[in-house]
Amino acid sequence: MRPDRCIGLGTGTTAYYAIERAGELVAGGMPLRAVPSSHETERLCREFGVPLARFGSASIDVAIDGADEIGPDWSLIKGGGGALFREKAIAIAAASFVVVATARKMVATLGAFPLPVEVVPFSADYVAREIAALGAAVTVRERDGEPYTTDNGNTLLDCRFETIDDPARLDAILSALHGVVTTGLFIGLTSRVIVARSDGTISEPRLNARA
Ligand code: A5P
Repeated sequence: MRPDRCIGLGTGTTAYYAIERAGELVAGGMPLRAVPSSHETERLCREFGVPLARFGSASIDVAIDGADEIGPDWSLIKGGGGALFREKAIAIAAASFVVVATARKMVATLGAFPLPVEVVPFSADYVAREIAALGAAVTVRERDGEPYTTDNGNTLLDCRFETIDDPARLDAILSALHGVVTTGLFIGLTSRVIVARSDGTISEPRLNARA
């Protein structure tokens, strides 16, 4: 293994186990560093003794993350934990992007899970109206009664479309709205999906590429 192996670590309850495992590998002598996708993951890396790497300072061999929904073509909805911008940055930069999830995250069509859209706070109401006009039920994410602020200082809109028939097209439309920083749609980024079951077994669903 290369002495400077660098991995990307996602955010959430699934990614937690990857962070914990990375800590075990480091403790066992494996020379690896990790780019964390959120302040919370950075905190956990420190707790588990995983050395940190700054995003962009080294090439990322593999990134490991969870997802909120996984479509048959392995397009994803992510950002339930609010870390979509950094998670997407890492997924794009990584040579390989591995998604770990339980079977209930596998869906025939994306969209039942509200799609997180990160927006510049100034533009939040404008973007919310534009997305509502596309047919989504839009809410501004809150925490403790206050608007939730991402690690990048932005606002999150949770947009329930119910069904997203063409994720790439919707991502392009949303990304073109002035004020949108990024969406929770991860298109064409997934290298591998691992479905984990509570009995400890895993399986890897087949990729059904869109026509
Ligand atoms: C964090 O912002 C999200 O993208 C998570 O990766 C996603 O919500 C999955 O989280 P869980 O593993 O906690 O379900």
